[in-house]
Formats: sequence, C-alpha cells, structure tokens
Amino acid sequence: MAQASFRAPKGTFDILPGAAERHRALVNAFGEQARRAGYGHVMTPIFEDLGVFKRIGESTDVVTKEMYDFVAKDGKHYALRPELTAAVVRSFVQHRPSTPWKVWYEGPQFRYERPQAGRYRQFFQVGVEALGTEDPAIDAEIVALAWRFYQSLGLSQVTLLLNSLGDPTCRPAYLEALTDYFRRRHDELSEQSQHTLQVNPLRVLDSKRPEDQVIIDDAPVMVDHLSPETAEHFGGVRRVLDRLGIPYDISPRLVRGLDYYTRTTFEFASHALEGAQNAIGGGGRYDALAADLGGPDTPGIGFALGVDRILLACDAEGVFPAAPALVDVFLIDTTGGEEAAVLQGVLAADGIASDRAYDARSMKAQFRAADRSGARLAVIVGEDERAAGTATIRPLTGENRDQVTVAVATLVDELTKRLS
Ligand code: HAM
Repeated sequence: MAQASFRAPKGTFDILPGAAERHRALVNAFGEQARRAGYGHVMTPIFEDLGVFKRIGESTDVVTKEMYDFVAKDGKHYALRPELTAAVVRSFVQHRPSTPWKVWYEGPQFRYERPQAGRYRQFFQVGVEALGTEDPAIDAEIVALAWRFYQSLGLSQVTLLLNSLGDPTCRPAYLEALTDYFRRRHDELSEQSQHTLQVNPLRVLDSKRPEDQVIIDDAPVMVDHLSPETAEHFGGVRRVLDRLGIPYDISPRLVRGLDYYTRTTFEFASHALEGAQNAIGGGGRYDALAADLGGPDTPGIGFALGVDRILLACDAEGVFPAAPALVDVFLIDTTGGEEAAVLQGVLAADGIASDRAYDARSMKAQFRAADRSGARLAVIVGEDERAAGTATIRPLTGENRDQVTVAVATLVDELTKRLS
C-alpha cells in the first residue's frame, strides 16, 4: 500500500464523520442552553494581534511558552488564539455594545503544549462571557449554566471547585503575605517555582511539582485575606449557588492558569478522567481586563469548557453517544443512476435526507450499501418503475419489510408518513 506523505500535525487530529456529528451536537446543545439564558452568539477571528493575548499574563505558560505567534506579510505580530476571553473583550472594547453584554462562543484554540491524552495543540472550547455587571447573581448564573450543561449531557462525576482570588482592595496585602512565606522557604522550592516567585507569587500555588506541594499546602490562602466587600461578594455567589442546589467545594489554592482573574474563580473536574487532564472547564471574573485592553472600566466574568475533554468524559461515563444514522432514505436505482439523481433532488427539497450508490452497481451491492447507511427506508427504481412513473418503498429496519409501489408524485408524502 502507498504510504501517506502527510499526517495531521502533532497534537492535532481529524474529526471524522460520526465523531464530527457528535461534536457538533454537543456544541449545538451548548448554544441552545446559552441562548435560553440570554446569551447571543459571537464569532471573533482565529488570530489577533499578539498584544491581545499578552494580557492573559506575562507569567503564564500560555503566554511564555505556548503561543502560536507569527509575523505576517504586513509585518505585524499575530497569534492564533490560545483562548477566547481576551479576544471577546477586545471585541467588546472595539464595538462598545450596551451592557450587560452576554455572549457565547465555540471553536478551536491553539496552544503549543506537550500533547497527551486530553491535551492537544488544537483543541475546542465552548464558553460564555458577560461584561458590564459585578452582581454576584451573574457569577452564580454563569457557574449554573456550565453545571446544567454537564448535567444535560448525563455527566454525573463532575465536581465544582470554587475560590475567590480577591481584588485590588485585598490582593496586594495577601500577595505580600504569600511572598514573605515563600521567601522564608525559598530554598525548598523547585528551581522553576523560585523563578515564578519573582514574576508572580500566586502562580507558585499552581505548581504541580512534588517538592513544591508540601510548601504550598501550608501557604496562606486568599479566602482568609478577603476584604469585607470581596468576602460579601463571594458570600453572595455562594448563597445563590446554594439556593440553586449546585454543590461545590471551596478550593482555596485554585489559581487557574491565566493571570487576569479577580474575585470569583472556578473549575470543573471530571473524576471519570485521568488526574492531570481532568479539568473539563473553568472560568472566573476578570474585572480589569477591559480597561487593560484600552476600554472603559468594565467588570466581566465567563468560562470556557473543553469540548474534547467533555467528550472523553462522556465516553468514560457511557453517556451522550454518537449521533445515529445520517440519512433517512437510501435510493436504489437499477436503471443506471440518473433516476436516483433526480429523486435525491426532490427529497432534499422537502427535507428528507437521502444517499445513494454510484457507478451503476448491482442491485445486491446497492442493498448492501443501503444497509450500511443506516437509512430506515429504501426507495427502489427499476425499469418497470421508471416506465410507470412510480417508485417502490421498502423498509430497511424493523419487523415489517413489506414493500409498496407508489406514484413518484406522491413519493414525498408516502415517505414522510413512514418516517414520522
Ligand atoms: P482554561 O482553563 O485555560 O480557561 O481552558 C478552559 C478549558 O479548556 C480547560 O478546562 C480544558 O477543559 C480545556 N483545555 C485547555 N487547554 C487544553 C488543551 N491543550 N487540550 C484540550 N483541552 C484544553 C480559558 O481558556 C479561559 N478563557 C476561560 C475563561 C472564560 N475565563 C473567563 N472566561
């Protein structure tokens, strides 16, 4: 057999028919839920000025190591989007829509990570962003939206981790306490964390290295240092979540991998997945991001969920199976193939999905193809039918396989009756 010259780039993959329909169904289900909660659909470019994504944080892996950036023919420095929050906020700042601006999105993201199961260089997210309100009710609304989505897929092994990262009224004092603590134990930290400490002490909390873990376990936590206003805000979020009956664990060391977060932050973990890649979604507030991108001071909050990981979790839990057959009808034409071409147009115009065989295959071969297609009905046109202006309908599934010959003029009605 000839060898393929090319494969999909490392860390990327083709989503083939069957899997792609399932992926699309998940995205559509998410879009429908977001729409019902008052979110409009937004689509931004796949690439942006590099500066947009630098706002994610100079000390994050996403910015320092994983960006797909390039200088284009116009001499400008761009990056393929590693996430959509900064892009959506850039769009908000550019268009200045009235607030609250509630939007949902979906699409591929790009991060130059070390690929492994559940971690890819091109991966897919669905998500929402809401700009223009700091009402704790919207924090809870957003968390609840993600939670309900997982539930609607049938996922039951999902945990919600919740934290508050404080705000400019209380974070500086906390950072001082944290830095003091890490400085005292500086020599015990990993080399990587010693470096991170100089750039952003909060990020040290995100280290997964075992030598850092013991030190992190005893580090002061933000929730103990919240200002009264921020504590009250966090309390408000929790109260609404409690009333909505959404269970959560307070996770004081949850800092997330991006730097723009303030106050409410959260992550969803699936226990059906391997530990390292078990985050199936996350988000939080980014109240300074709009101003940071040159816009008016506008609070914001949102989340993104990893579509690929959610589908892996669905596989592991045995829920949200692949979509069933693609077509309703398979056309079998033993007169050469032109009748099938004409009938396919007639059926498509009336919304009946059909497929057919090509190359004037034998009747037997066409029936084999019909069975493989998963269609419920076969429509057969032979020489007799063609001469009489008729077609024969035969069920391909179920007990009753009796066939009936009908006038082509009534074919759509007859098929619709049997498919409903
Ligand atoms: P994030 O935590 O970087 O947040 O990504 C969100 C989700 O995308 C993760 O929980 C994970 O499911 C999925 N994900 C991330 N990287 C990969 C990868 N390499 N391969 C497969 N899946 C991946 C954000 O992106 C923020 N923009 C979320 C947000 C929205 N915050 C506020 N608004």
